[in-house]
Amino acid sequence: PQKPAAGPLVGAVVQGTNSTRFLVFNSKTAELLTHHQVEVAQEYPKEGWVEQDPKEILQSVYECIERTCEKLKEQNIDIANIKAVGVSNQRETTVVWDKLSGEPLYNAVVWLDLRTQSTVESLSKKIPGNNNFVKSKTGLPLSTYFSAVKLRWMLDNVLDVQKAVEEGRALFGTLDSWLIWSMTGGVNGGVHCTDVTNASRTMLFNIHSLEWDAELCKFFDVPMDILPNVWSSSQIYGQIKGGTLEGVPISGCLGDQSAALVGQMCFQEGQAKSTYGTGCFLLCNTGRKCVFSEHGLLTTVAYKLGKDKPVHYALEGSVAIAGAVIRWLRDNLGIIETSEEIETLAKEAGTSYGCYFVPAFSGLYAPYWEPSARGIICGLTQFTNKCHIGFAALEAVCFQTREILDAMNRDCGIPLTHLQVDGAMTVNQILMQLLADILHIPVIKSSMSETTALGAAMAAGAAEGVGVWSLKPEDLSVIGMVRFEPQIQATESEIRYSTWKKAVMKSMDSVP
Ligand code: G3P
Repeated sequence: PQKPAAGPLVGAVVQGTNSTRFLVFNSKTAELLTHHQVEVAQEYPKEGWVEQDPKEILQSVYECIERTCEKLKEQNIDIANIKAVGVSNQRETTVVWDKLSGEPLYNAVVWLDLRTQSTVESLSKKIPGNNNFVKSKTGLPLSTYFSAVKLRWMLDNVLDVQKAVEEGRALFGTLDSWLIWSMTGGVNGGVHCTDVTNASRTMLFNIHSLEWDAELCKFFDVPMDILPNVWSSSQIYGQIKGGTLEGVPISGCLGDQSAALVGQMCFQEGQAKSTYGTGCFLLCNTGRKCVFSEHGLLTTVAYKLGKDKPVHYALEGSVAIAGAVIRWLRDNLGIIETSEEIETLAKEAGTSYGCYFVPAFSGLYAPYWEPSARGIICGLTQFTNKCHIGFAALEAVCFQTREILDAMNRDCGIPLTHLQVDGAMTVNQILMQLLADILHIPVIKSSMSETTALGAAMAAGAAEGVGVWSLKPEDLSVIGMVRFEPQIQATESEIRYSTWKKAVMKSMDSVP
């Protein structure tokens, strides 16, 4: 017999660059009941290109949902208790598909992809009026990172996309749109939508009016009729068609970094979090104000939790490569067999022994925005071994965080007194201690590590017409925290940080 769960349940799809997961929470206690995870492949067809298969990603979502439901059944929990599903996703990654066949017209062009470097260069020469045209409307610098240029590349280079656009068959979306459209029926009435957080990463969205911007679409020469409807991050978008969760509403949608901000309860102005996944993203809630950075940060939509709820903005420091450097050590150099092994390797070394690793695989994002930078490992001697390189890779994650933290402190005027962290890499104790040492402020890690999923579940469960998430942020204050205090002198971290900066200068010089 199925034992009734303690309360209504809410599911969360977390579709990241590295993996897909589906997690189920109890909406009365925020307890994570179970989850399933599948790693997703990345393809590198040419140097600098990064693609993923949208069908494989969709399949991974279905597989995670089905496996998680089986695990719930094994715990004697009734699946019918799942009242809503939220979606959170890697942002910017661009998909164009055929609304009649339901087939993607090209692989997804991933946010890390650099193929649009020349597109960006030629567009930047054409910016009308002042150089602030794109940034003042979108909060973003003109960069390979965002969707508009990826879509421009597809429109220029992929015959199937061009034909489908001409024939009115093409739909564009970030991964949230592709997944929600497919899960709500696809060719049989799928809902074509996105939320304000994901839209704000396309470079086509006006973050003040919260609408697609006709001038931007004209500038990027993007047809507006292929764009999804933009809705809030918490409302019923449609019902799941097919599979075990048939009929369950999808009622939460947030870019993964926004979902983590919500999951970490950073609802007050000045509250910030840093998430360590493929990249590292430090977001600080700036309330209802759009704050524009003078130090290389982005202005982005943090969340809008309901149709009639106010929008909140964030300042964001984006680092392209964090966990991805560990995947690279595993897949490209083979010096570890599993990502977890990096901790043992780094522990064995205990130091980088003067080795510095700048993983500028996709150029450098904040605060430099230098697409032509390339990765370097320097300071090598006969003594250097793989353990030192592993340690240097972890230190690189910390130094990059320090760069965006410094920028954030300058823009905000009031320095952050501690850093709240989450994401898969935060299980690594050595990394957490190094981070506290290099930032020289306490690093606070929640014992509830699934904050991205929690944010998506909260948005879904609290949506109008669902209303099962009754927990207030203060109810979750019981969630335990682990605190890492700096254990080295400030002067030592300054010396290491200034050597890192020299290495960064070399990485920007490393292309002949
Ligand atoms: O902007 C890209 C970001 O959303 C990717 O997130 O979790 O794959 O590092 P993640």
